[in-house]
Amino acid sequence: SQIINPAGKQKVAQQIAQKVKDGDVLGVGSGSTVYMALLAISERIKAEKLNILAIPTSLEITMFCTKLGIPLTTLFEHTPNWLFDGADEVDPNNGLIKGRGGAMFKEKLLISSSPLNYIIVDSSKRVDKLGTNFPIPIEVFPQALLHVEAELKKLGANNIVLRPAKGKDGPIITENNNLILDCRFDEVKDTLERDIKTITGVIESGLFIGYDLQILTAEND
Ligand code: A5P
Repeated sequence: SQIINPAGKQKVAQQIAQKVKDGDVLGVGSGSTVYMALLAISERIKAEKLNILAIPTSLEITMFCTKLGIPLTTLFEHTPNWLFDGADEVDPNNGLIKGRGGAMFKEKLLISSSPLNYIIVDSSKRVDKLGTNFPIPIEVFPQALLHVEAELKKLGANNIVLRPAKGKDGPIITENNNLILDCRFDEVKDTLERDIKTITGVIESGLFIGYDLQILTAEND
């Protein structure tokens, strides 16, 4: 993952580690801020012999948890007590854009399944309007690509990019075997998340509007 502003990310990572209690089942988002929080949590697990279970949102985080010795579970077996995750953008109403790492489907599933959700960001992620720095990523069933593109244009998408793979030719294939369209919209309305989701072939978008989220922000001093 990209580590752009480590100072602020490190601070919120420490704040998250302090919230962990013995016996917690944690939903674990994805990205570099989450990784820093996991490192801090694993230190506490070792020092205090805490029993923690993690439900990861991506292969990347599954591998980090395994490497750090944090035991894993799934949504079949447990519901998280609480969750932490990063974000690409946070607006003044706590709306989010997520999915730079391509894990937004599982991230949204975990956030929807968890009663308490912390979003950990450095101050560079704060924006006045969603879409300022990042496009909205949309995971699409491959055969639905052209249909979804046409429908997104009707919703005001003015720039649609099929996310390319790195280290291989062609598009990126998600962990759910789908494609990702990175979309810029004329305007991000409150109804846009729902409107995108109603298109047949859309698995999920990285737009989060109206979720009950606790945002922890740290400055990069
Ligand atoms: C992963 O798909 C994303 O939603 C991440 O949570 C988001 O990109 C934030 O990543 P960083 O913590 O690496 O900035």
